[in-house]
Amino acid sequence: MIRIEGLSKSFGTTQALRGLSFEVSKGQVVGFLGPNGAGKSTTMKILAGFLVPTSGHAYVGERDVGVDTVATRRMIGYLPENNPLYEEMMVVDFLAFIAEVRQVPADLRAERIRVAVDRCGLKSVLGKDIGQLSKGFRQRVGLAQAILHDPEILILDEPTSGLDPNQIAEIRGLIKELGREKTVILSTHILSEVQSTCSRVLIINDGKLVADDAPERLTLGAEGGVITVVVGTRLGVGLDEAKVRQALAGVAGVTSVESADAEGPGTAGFKLRYGRDDPRRELFEAAVKNELVLLEVRRQHVSLEETFRKLTATDPSGPRAAA
Ligand SMILES: Nc1ncnc2c1ncn2[C@@H]1O[C@H](COP(=O)(O)OP(=O)(O)OP(=O)(O)O)[C@@H](O)[C@H]1O
Ligand SMILES: [Mg+2]
Repeated sequence: MIRIEGLSKSFGTTQALRGLSFEVSKGQVVGFLGPNGAGKSTTMKILAGFLVPTSGHAYVGERDVGVDTVATRRMIGYLPENNPLYEEMMVVDFLAFIAEVRQVPADLRAERIRVAVDRCGLKSVLGKDIGQLSKGFRQRVGLAQAILHDPEILILDEPTSGLDPNQIAEIRGLIKELGREKTVILSTHILSEVQSTCSRVLIINDGKLVADDAPERLTLGAEGGVITVVVGTRLGVGLDEAKVRQALAGVAGVTSVESADAEGPGTAGFKLRYGRDDPRRELFEAAVKNELVLLEVRRQHVSLEETFRKLTATDPSGPRAAA
């Protein structure tokens, strides 16, 4: 659905993007992360057709954004960083104006506006000037204008920035709902947002891609994942530890089994290591097959923040760290 190929962008002597490439398939909700100045907004502006790359291409569907800008813009709903809006316009007039600009056919306009107002919860502020709205409502207006022409793709640049926790939860819920039917790329500095909303994470640093994976895989430790389990038998007696160990070692994905603390008599504890694939489902099935009860299953992982910091760490003498 989206393909970025060797994208570079320079602003004078600043190189914002340095050969960035990635693809996003239809229906994915992708979190776009990176430190300040990494090039997130630049990438999003290029995708939305508001900025021309120095070299490389951005494709939406099979169309090159730089060549078929009008057609690709029609497929995209874009919420720019800082959500610039016409302060002096009433919400209802603003949405009507955007529908016209986006060339929504006249006979569909009223219905599209109704749907956007409904989804973004704007009914109570339709008659207010945008300048009078709280940040949360401004953000909703931004989302409403982005979905007005019913695009297949949403590009949202920091949609929850500056909102209070309640408003963040609301906007996040709305994005999740939109993500069920649309392809979404959203940038954010709130890492927990990515874990709750996105099925995939792209991390860029200094204009280059440094990670592309599912959020749970980005939280595996350096030596893979670790799961601590405590098992017992169904009847509470007759646990054969060697046999249990063998059964656990046979679970698909598990790479090693070590002893760990038990929880009392008739139980045994183990520390399992695994590679890329989370073995918890298979673990449960193996327990049932071997007539064991899983008294505890605990997955230890590093935080996404730790991974982010490791992947985007800069030279301590560099300008960014000093800023
Ligand atoms: N119009 C511009 N003129 C000059 N430099 C620019 C322009 N737009 C962006 N840059 C520079 O390009 C680099 C990437 O900026 P960009 O806004 O894409 O970063 P970002 O990842 O969105 O950062 P943030 O998290 O702060 O929003 C930065 O060094 C920025 O200063
Ligand atoms: Mg930005």
